[in-house]
Amino acid sequence: MKGTMIAAATALLFVTGLASAEENLRGRTIGSACFGCHGAGSDSGAAIPPIIVGAPAQFIEDSLKAFREDSRPSTIMGRIAKGYTDEDIAAVAQYFSTLGGN
Ligand code: HEC
Repeated sequence: MKGTMIAAATALLFVTGLASAEENLRGRTIGSACFGCHGAGSDSGAAIPPIIVGAPAQFIEDSLKAFREDSRPSTIMGRIAKGYTDEDIAAVAQYFSTLGGN
């Protein structure tokens, strides 16, 4: 009985996780503009630019805001980040953090 409860709870968590990834349409749409440079998966082998798939959402969000405010130096990301609102940044950060299985 206890095992069944745990299995059910795990399944529920899994489904909820998938659902929230699916619902993040804004993050997915914005994210599609990033793959060209950042690679489609953590096995892309790309060293430059850095791999962001599976990075913590908070790290991505902080990085994009710092690029946007020019408080973190960049060649490209400053210009890209300036196109996005706080909500866009939160959505795309959330999206990338849910990819890559880590
Ligand atoms: C034209 C290529 C290009 C595109 C498109 C691009 N990036 Fe980047 N990204 C870079 C480069 C290059 C860096 C290293 C910093 C710099 O020089 O701008 C970087 C750095 C980053 C970092 C810091 C990662 C770290 O480990 O420090 C994050 C987060 C990031 N990009 C997120 C994004 C997101 C989100 C998008 C889509 C909205 C995006 N990037 C689109 C080229 C790109």
